[in-house]
Amino acid sequence: MKVDFPGTTPYEEYVRASVLSRLQEPLSDDPGEMSFLVTTQVMELWFTVLVHEWETAARALRADDLPVAMAALRRSVYELESLNSSWKPLAHLTPTQFNAYRSALGEASGFQSATYRRLEFLLGEKSPAMLVPYRGAPETFAELEKALREPSLYDEVLRHLARRGHGMPAAVLDRDVSERYAADPAVEEVWQRVYAGDQNSEACRLGEALTEIAELVWRWRNDHLVATRRAMGAKVGTGGSPGVAWLEKRAAQHVFPELWTARSRV
Ligand code: HEM
Repeated sequence: MKVDFPGTTPYEEYVRASVLSRLQEPLSDDPGEMSFLVTTQVMELWFTVLVHEWETAARALRADDLPVAMAALRRSVYELESLNSSWKPLAHLTPTQFNAYRSALGEASGFQSATYRRLEFLLGEKSPAMLVPYRGAPETFAELEKALREPSLYDEVLRHLARRGHGMPAAVLDRDVSERYAADPAVEEVWQRVYAGDQNSEACRLGEALTEIAELVWRWRNDHLVATRRAMGAKVGTGGSPGVAWLEKRAAQHVFPELWTARSRV
């Protein structure tokens, strides 16, 4: 084993571990805050990886390169599973435990996570209103605005399927991609036909990879909702929302909607 290095170790140069481990600075004296902060940072890192995977998949689909797209989507399924397991340290907080550092967060809320918003935009959940928190941070605002105007991963999926001969309505293909994707009966019919046919077809395997992603996103939102309910009941959130009642509505939504509704008709 090599142990002599002229400068910092190659591990440090690659991983930047000393930079990473300088970012854990709890604001209270409570010993439980470290776990809250690091869990949030770990989730932010996974959000970044997921954005990378879904942008890779969207680009590959634009080029009709299905193997590259599928590889990225499959990786993202495992990454989502890791992300969701990260709830463990926060899933059983009591209100008293959470209160011990809650005031240190001030008005900070995951609602202000720009990377989470990019992730939602990629899933088709576009909303110009979500840019408002970044008006004072021009670089982040510009990045998110760009993401708002780009086709989502799901837009690229539907365009790809159209090029592969699955009849897609022009209204879906030419839609204003900066708007939230709204379910379309003709897209539901496409998925219905795909699911009624060869279970090994490329379209069916693509549909299943997307369904897996949609399910795991739904699980993340629901795990977040339950953790929040346990930690703070029905109190107002640090970001100023009504808290659990607001999160409940968000968690009820399914991304890639027709992949779910088509199932009732197969
Ligand atoms: C027990 C710990 C947590 C509690 C009590 C909690 C509470 C809340 C509440 C009440 C909201 C609604 C907005 C607000 O009023 O603040 C929210 C939103 C959000 N939180 Fe958390 N949260 C927790 C942990 C986390 C963690 C670890 C993350 C990871 C980054 C996170 C990410 C988010 C995101 C992305 C939103 C926006 C959701 C959306 O727009 O649909 N939260 N959280």
